Amino acid sequence: MKFYIETYGCQMNVADSELVAGILKNNNYKITDDYQQADLILINTCAVRENAEQRVFGRIGLFTHQKQINKNLVVGLIGCVAQRLKDKLLNDFKTIDFVAGPDTYRRLPDLIEKVKQGERPLDVILSKQENYDDLEPYYYDKNKITGFVSITRGCDNMCAFCIVPFTRGRERSRSPENILSEIQTMKKDGFKEITLLGQNVDKYNWNDGKMKFANLLEKVAVEFPELRIRFATSYPQDMTDDVLKVIAKYKNVCKYIHLPVQAGSNAVLERMKRGYTREWYLNRIEAIKRIIPECSISTDIIAGFCGETEENHKQTIDLMRQVEFDYAYMFKYSVRPNTFAARNLADDVPEDVKSRRLKEIIDLQNNLSYQSNKNDVGKIFEVLVEEISKKNDKQVFGRNSQNKVIIFNGDESLKGTCVNVKVTGFTQATLFGEIC
Ligand code: SAH
Ligand code: F3S
Repeated sequence: MKFYIETYGCQMNVADSELVAGILKNNNYKITDDYQQADLILINTCAVRENAEQRVFGRIGLFTHQKQINKNLVVGLIGCVAQRLKDKLLNDFKTIDFVAGPDTYRRLPDLIEKVKQGERPLDVILSKQENYDDLEPYYYDKNKITGFVSITRGCDNMCAFCIVPFTRGRERSRSPENILSEIQTMKKDGFKEITLLGQNVDKYNWNDGKMKFANLLEKVAVEFPELRIRFATSYPQDMTDDVLKVIAKYKNVCKYIHLPVQAGSNAVLERMKRGYTREWYLNRIEAIKRIIPECSISTDIIAGFCGETEENHKQTIDLMRQVEFDYAYMFKYSVRPNTFAARNLADDVPEDVKSRRLKEIIDLQNNLSYQSNKNDVGKIFEVLVEEISKKNDKQVFGRNSQNKVIIFNGDESLKGTCVNVKVTGFTQATLFGEIC
C-alpha cells in the first residue's frame, strides 16, 4: 500500500505529518510523492485563518477526480480543520472517507481498516495526555538537514482571535528523555539542525516545574554541540531572561527569536487577551538586544482586529519602527468560529480598511527587512548549506544563525556543511555572498 500526504499550515503540522508517516510506515505503508500512485491520500489541514481553510477545500476537488480513476483510493482529512468541522466534512464531501483530529493519529490504522469495511469513521477526541511521546516520526522530506521536534502540544493561552486551543487542545509537555532520544536519532540520520516546536515553548514544564524551557534548551545545547538548535514559538508574556542567557551562552543555539506581538496598542492587546502590554513587549525586546546583541527578531502581526481604530493601527506601525523587526508574518484578521472574539466582539473593521492597514504594515516591514539586510553587507556569517539554489544550479542556499537566507556559489558537496560566507549583496528577502 502506498500513501501520499499533503501538509498545510504551521511547522507543527509538518512535524505531525512526519509522525503520521512513521505510524503508517510501521503498518507496512510506503510513501509516495505522487498522489496518482497512492492508495491512501491524507490532507493534513490548518484552520488558523480562513484562507488556509479555503485552500484545503480546493484540493478535495482534485482528489474527487482521482477517486474516479482509482476506485479503491482512500482519502482522509486530518489536522485542525478535521477537528473544527468534524462530521460536517463527511456530510459535505463524499470524497472524504474518514476524518481524524490532531490527537488521534495512533488510531489511524484502525480508521483506515474501518473504511475498508465500508464505514466512514470520525475520530476527533482531544486528549489531555496525548503527546505522542514514544512514537518515532518518519522524516520523509528529502532535505534531511533541518528538522522539527515537538516539545509541547496544544495551547492554554486562549488568545481571543485564535482557534488553536480549540483544535489542538490543552497544553502538555513531552518528557525530556523522549525529546533527547528523538534528537539523537535525527543526529544519526544526518540532521544538522533541529527546531524545538511548541505553540508557546516558554510554557514547557516537566516534573512540576523542575525542568522549564531554559533548562531543556540548555540540556539539548550541551548534549548536541554539533547540532544547531532553533525553537519556535516564544510568547512575550512568558519569555524569561533565563532563556535569553542560554541562547547567548551556547554557540550552537541560533541567535534568532520569533516573538509574535500581534498589535502595538494596549487597547487592542487587551481585547486580544494577549496578557501583556506594549511596554512589556518592548521591555522583552530590550532584554533580547541587551543579552544577545547579534540576535535577529521576527514577529506576527494582525491587521484590523475587532475595534481597531486608526490610532491603534498607527501604534502598531510605530512599534514596528521602534523594534526594527528583521522579518514579520503579517495577516488580515479573519473571524474563527467559537473563539472568544467570534462570540463576543464585532468584526467591525471594514474589509477595505483591513486591506489598506495590512498593506501599510507590509510596506513598512519590507523597508525594515531591506535595511536589516543592508546592515549585513560586509559581515561574515557561518552558513549551514541546505540545498542547491532553485534558480541557478551553480549556487547553493543556506541560513545563518539569524535565520537569514544566504545564496552563494557552490555545489552539491557543500550540502549539510557549515561554511563561512561574506555578504556581498542583498535584496529585501535574501543575502548574497561568497565563501571566505
Ligand atoms: N503560538 C502560535 C501561533 C499560532 S497561529 C505559534 O506557534 O506560531 C500563528 C499566527 O497566526 C498568530 O500569531 C497570528 O498572528 C495569526 N492568526 C491567528 N489567528 C488569526 C486570525 N483569526 N486572523 C488572522 N490571523 C490570525
Ligand atoms: Fe493561538 Fe495565542 Fe496559543 S495565538 S496558539 S492561543 S499563544
